[in-house]
Amino acid sequence: MKASITKTQFGVLQDGRPVELYTISNAKGAVLKVTNYGTIITELHVPDRAGRLGDVVLGFDNLAQYLAGHPYFGCTIGRVANRIGGAKFTLDGKTYTLAANDGPNHLHGGLKGFDKVLWQAEPQQNGSIKFTYTSPDGEEGYPGTLNVTVVMTWTDQNELVLEYTATTDKPTPVNLTNHSYFNLAGEGDILGHVLMLSASHYTPADATLIPTGEIRPVAGTPLDFTTPTPIGARFDQLDTNPRGYDHNFVINRAGKGLALAARVFEPKTGRVMEVFTTEPGVQLYTGNFLNGTLKGKRGVVYAQHTGFCLETQHFPDAVNKPTFPSIILRPGQTYQQTTVYRFSVRV
Ligand code: BGC
Repeated sequence: MKASITKTQFGVLQDGRPVELYTISNAKGAVLKVTNYGTIITELHVPDRAGRLGDVVLGFDNLAQYLAGHPYFGCTIGRVANRIGGAKFTLDGKTYTLAANDGPNHLHGGLKGFDKVLWQAEPQQNGSIKFTYTSPDGEEGYPGTLNVTVVMTWTDQNELVLEYTATTDKPTPVNLTNHSYFNLAGEGDILGHVLMLSASHYTPADATLIPTGEIRPVAGTPLDFTTPTPIGARFDQLDTNPRGYDHNFVINRAGKGLALAARVFEPKTGRVMEVFTTEPGVQLYTGNFLNGTLKGKRGVVYAQHTGFCLETQHFPDAVNKPTFPSIILRPGQTYQQTTVYRFSVRV
């Protein structure tokens, strides 16, 4: 089989701009679909242990449903992923106020983050698509014009490679991620997926999910996934409401570069997903807020815990936590983050 990229129209925005959908088939016949609206990954078909392809991400069949609102299915998140406490931060002596779109806090870039903008798409020679977006100075309250690039590659080894870069003309915080919800069985809940997280520590948070600033060991807590454990096995030991995980883990790493963050195994289908990243953290979110009101592809109702996210990132509220790795990008510097989701099977 020969790898190919095809482009179709996915719909039009309210202002009349057309939205594209790209289908990338790799040499193994596995298929990734991505739209330039929000760079949303709408479908990802990978083989099970019998070689049958199945769609392992949550999403919708059409643009209208994405425009009607959804909890960040498949998109790029920016300018700053996850939460900023009190929806403000001070940078070089100046305080910036952002939209409080999650109780008192700012979440996932604000009211119209990078998930809700139209990106320019340029298919490349090697099964990649290069997406670019210029975020204007002051957009969603953030300082500086930010030129952002996301290169998505769907390799013949069933690896989804996401390479992000950004440059700015004023100092600004930047923390980009992808918010795909995975379900390696393609249906049902994800409680029986067996998860290994290469993380001996996590960042404890308050009731509104803002980190306290501490870094604590996972040992002896239901957050210890250093030994592979079914995702749902210890939900009853968590004090979260709604039930499930929504935590930032500190990835064990020896140095810079790609490190293994997670491995997920789905016993019924044999599908395995490994996550490698250059980032210091990963948010495990188990679809706690899904409540059955959204109907996705193939008419499937997205009930609670029918998908999980592994969002590779710098730590939440890093912009207000001097002890966390900095997310400030300055003119002349280039932001870079790479994350690889690798799919395989275990027999
Ligand atoms: C957050 C959750 C939030 C979800 C939105 C996750 O990254 O950690 O708290 O509800 O995104 O869908």
